[in-house]
Amino acid sequence: MSQDSNASSATSGAQILDGKATAAAVRADVAAGVDALVAGGGRQPGLTVVLVGEDPPSQVYVRSKDRAATEAGFRVETVRMAADSQQADVEATVRRLNGDDGVDGILVQLPLPKGLDADAVTELIDPAKDVDGLTKDNIARLVLGQDGLVPCTPAGCIEICDRHGISLSGKDVVVIGRSHLVGKPFAQLALARNATVTICHSRTRDLEAHCRAADVVVAAVGVTELVKGSWLKEGAVVLDVGINRGDDGKLRGDVEFETARQRASAITPVPGGVGPMTIAMLLANTLETSRRRQGRA
Ligand code: GUN
Repeated sequence: MSQDSNASSATSGAQILDGKATAAAVRADVAAGVDALVAGGGRQPGLTVVLVGEDPPSQVYVRSKDRAATEAGFRVETVRMAADSQQADVEATVRRLNGDDGVDGILVQLPLPKGLDADAVTELIDPAKDVDGLTKDNIARLVLGQDGLVPCTPAGCIEICDRHGISLSGKDVVVIGRSHLVGKPFAQLALARNATVTICHSRTRDLEAHCRAADVVVAAVGVTELVKGSWLKEGAVVLDVGINRGDDGKLRGDVEFETARQRASAITPVPGGVGPMTIAMLLANTLETSRRRQGRA
């Protein structure tokens, strides 16, 4: 894995943090971990994804998760449920998976169809199988700095930093977006790594001023090219979590990439940056739950 310095000068442009290559490295490590677990007499880790309804992006994500998990040596099952499923039916599915010893990881793909209470479904997942890190138990552990399961996308942002020698300690980190899935957990992870963290959101008065002062900008709002390159401090690190499809069919991030790369020292592209890390970290989390559940952590 690349351990290049991220201190390239502004004139030569930013180091491009290749999430595809980083994710491939994580997946290879996980596959080796699965092999070692099984070779040592353990059971093959099992991941079950619950997909309710026919949301097209969710179908694409779930197929990718299935493929990646199979490649890494997991036993994978996707439970597909009709869009008009009742709350009680979805909850019964989660309860059944909680009780199935061969299932080490449960992921309920979000969003759920209208009318279903996603929070109630998520909260039913056994925290020991909560590979998305979205139950209250795992969120509390994250906030308290205890061992637990961390949501996959923010965990992937941290992994990209770690594997490129980017330290957050003492840095001024600005997180744009306060979602449960990304912004809030990333802020906690950065805090645990001794960053000084500011969370910005739709009511923030002067987003540009916050960005100008930041050593690290993490953009996770889903607004195409909201953050301009001219807003960045020279040498800033940019982690772009946005995946926005334009009218031209192209994917763009929450950061104006071409101008940002002129000022940043390191930046994740879209696509091929943070995106591929989400599935890689899901696999890492599932290997972890499987080891723990088999007493082989
Ligand atoms: N939908 C979009 N991202 C995610 C994710 O990380 N986990 C789940 N469960 N659903 C999602």
